[in-house]
Amino acid sequence: MASQPEMDFEALFAVAARVQPLAYAPYSRFKVGAAILADDGAVYPGCNVENAAYPSGSCAEQGAISAMIAGGGLRIAAIVVMGEGEMLVTPCGACRQRIREFADPNTPVAIAGPGGIRQRFSLAELLPASFGPDNLRR
Ligand code: THU
Repeated sequence: MASQPEMDFEALFAVAARVQPLAYAPYSRFKVGAAILADDGAVYPGCNVENAAYPSGSCAEQGAISAMIAGGGLRIAAIVVMGEGEMLVTPCGACRQRIREFADPNTPVAIAGPGGIRQRFSLAELLPASFGPDNLRR
């Protein structure tokens, strides 16, 4: 079994909060930062990158997953998503599925605001009865 890196949610929050202001979000003006703790012990950041052709924009979680894969990480041990506003910035449906590809049902998904982590979910809470790589086995 792969070893579980020590989960320091405050350190993950600090990375998400550092990249959130760097997001390219001129259309929504809604900047999001994400940080993944991967199985290799490294922390991978991501931010949303919008596009004048709106559907071509990408989410912060998507960017962090790309950074993880390009950096040699294989599995998500924990992810923090950080955004502004009163409401919880939970991952969109497509990003829940993207996270699912590299995470387990009990993988923590922590949602943060500017002041810190507000609420922790398991991936299964956000995406119950999900479809993943195992479902393709015949
Ligand atoms: N967004 C994210 O990057 N992650 C989320 O969890 C929610 C939404 C981005 C997409 C878009 O650039 C902006 O926030 C407004 O939806």
